[in-house]
Amino acid sequence: MDLRKLIVSAVLAGAFVAAWGVAAVSAQDPVAESLGPDRARFYASEEARSASLPSLSVTGELPPATLLGDEWTLRPEFSRVQGRASVRVAIDENTSLYGTGEVAGPLLRNGTRAVAWNYDAYGWGGNDLSLYQSHPWVLAVRPDGTSFGVLADTPHRCLIDLREGIRFESSGPEFPVYIITGVDPAAVMQGLAKLIGTMPLPPLWSLGYHQCRYSYTPDDRVREVAGTFRDKDIPCDVIWLDIDYMNANRSFTFDPVDFPDPRGLMQDLHADGFHTVAIIDPGIKEESGYHVYDSGQEINAWVQTANGAPYRGNVWPGRCVFPDFTNAAVRQWWGGLYGQFLTLGVDGIWNDMNEPAVFNTPTKTMPLSNLHRADAELGGPGTHARYHNVYGMLMARATWEGVRAARPERRPFVLSRANHLGGQKWAASWTGDNTANWNHVEWSISMTLNLGLSGQPLVGPDIGGFVGAGSDKMFARWMGIGALLPFARGHTGKGNIDKEPWSFGAEVEDTCRRALERRYRLLPFYYTLMREAAETGMPPVRPVFFADPTDAKLRDVDHQFLLGDDLMVVANVNATGPAEEFVVPGGRWRALRVLSGEKEDPDLPRLYLRGGAVLPLGPVVQHTGEISLEALELIVSLDAGGHAEGLLYEDAGDGYGYENGEFRLTRFVAELENAEVKVTSEVVGGQWPAAKRQLTVRVLFKD
Ligand code: NOJ
Repeated sequence: MDLRKLIVSAVLAGAFVAAWGVAAVSAQDPVAESLGPDRARFYASEEARSASLPSLSVTGELPPATLLGDEWTLRPEFSRVQGRASVRVAIDENTSLYGTGEVAGPLLRNGTRAVAWNYDAYGWGGNDLSLYQSHPWVLAVRPDGTSFGVLADTPHRCLIDLREGIRFESSGPEFPVYIITGVDPAAVMQGLAKLIGTMPLPPLWSLGYHQCRYSYTPDDRVREVAGTFRDKDIPCDVIWLDIDYMNANRSFTFDPVDFPDPRGLMQDLHADGFHTVAIIDPGIKEESGYHVYDSGQEINAWVQTANGAPYRGNVWPGRCVFPDFTNAAVRQWWGGLYGQFLTLGVDGIWNDMNEPAVFNTPTKTMPLSNLHRADAELGGPGTHARYHNVYGMLMARATWEGVRAARPERRPFVLSRANHLGGQKWAASWTGDNTANWNHVEWSISMTLNLGLSGQPLVGPDIGGFVGAGSDKMFARWMGIGALLPFARGHTGKGNIDKEPWSFGAEVEDTCRRALERRYRLLPFYYTLMREAAETGMPPVRPVFFADPTDAKLRDVDHQFLLGDDLMVVANVNATGPAEEFVVPGGRWRALRVLSGEKEDPDLPRLYLRGGAVLPLGPVVQHTGEISLEALELIVSLDAGGHAEGLLYEDAGDGYGYENGEFRLTRFVAELENAEVKVTSEVVGGQWPAAKRQLTVRVLFKD
């Protein structure tokens, strides 16, 4: 009998007693628990298990743990490396590693290191180990396609070392490790979602194109940018307000000179079919008379120094205090601030600088000895060393909950720069202050993919690059790619050249228009994928190896990706001609040309539709408010057996009616019968009746 088993079963029965008296089964031995046939949890020791604090990432409901049987072979080795808690999981040769959150560089992560530590990484590059978000999670795909994932359940600073197997090393206390196994990577992603939850269904408008810059000011410039989109027939849904809309960088205020009538501005934008997202930073100017400072002061809302005084650090507004989002009363107060703010007509919220970034410290953040008065459910009071990596996530949570409470009839849209494993429940992500060079064009894809493989489906880069000018060609190609990624926003830094779709001349403008028209035509499909992500945790944008996890040549492809299972994107990620070489997964993949209008545009990624797929497309519209559910086009790509099928999810595009059945999930099936393709549709979910609509069907025949 395995003594380890004895210990585990005794512990689980709540009957562990020191009287076991056998050295080999001391409380120092690793603990291995089963949480079902395909997931297990491990602790360094029984002592570590009893000392472990609540998880900040694993929030899904777990069954009672039982004894982990000997048939489970993936076992982490716990050790201490230079006094730090270390856990290693060995991998077989040719196992490919992915995930690890927001990391620059190639999709395939074997041989790399990252440090999960939220960091204000302005102008980051390929050698930076820490960016803005932390996801201590690795997805491993074996040569035969079977897969597993390893989650280091610690919010503390954590090295993820993939140079020899999978190793996590943390300066915090011993931490539990979850391992999820699956027949393929998709099964592991769904297993991860059961542990950390999924993104809620976003409002449809947030899947349109977003235009930002640091900053559009004054208000007439905002109107001008919005108006130019409409004048030039370039689709766009959202205009963003970066910090200069504020009164001297005070969150929840508008500048009285440049933005004297915010309500009027929002009304004008709404009338033209735009939504607005406004930035809100956590650094609150220490200044009595400022309503946010005063009301926060009343509840003593601020993160404290080791001596219990409010911590002060410099950010945009000058000397600031920082809300302690680990505390429920503070989150409630913060959430409440949106009630008033949203009545001005702001639609979505952008939480920035929430690593938290602090300008006047060598670490660019607050001291680790600072104190948080965290809720018992989060682990109770503790230092910034424990809560640093979740500060941004809990800010996003407070924002999401406040926006939801203020406007319960609408779906919140929150974007957060800092986040942590599990934070997709409250905010979408972008990849921070990137640079206009070709590496960053390419990394837009790999970072979106790896964040997707780390539980965050709604991601995209600053299209065009935040730092630096770039070139015409780069902008055109970046827009072509970015328009196909889940969160599509153009943005650039203060003082940089203009980077609107028309800023680089007529030719680039045409490419941008075509790129965005593609996106809007694809929205019915994209929205269906978002619903899948919300239900199952499957990222809408997937690496090509998802098409065949056993095919070794698909494992390290950086300039291609899949939308769902069916649409393959082959992108141009450098200045030279369209990518000559690209890999094609097994089966048929047919070139899809109809999306880019009449003219083939070599700067746009090429698209291929899987044989066996039916792709639902909408018409070109200028914003999502124009989408009518009546006109629909189906592109059919038959498989070798003459069969194809696809799904379409539709609902009101906002609100929560869908939770009560106010949606329609339609399955389209195409069959080749006697030289005719017969297409049938069937409503397979929701209470909306089948739609009467004008349907155009195109069948792709050429291989
Ligand atoms: C830093 C953010 O990363 C950037 O996107 C934003 O424009 C600036 N802060 C100013 O708010």
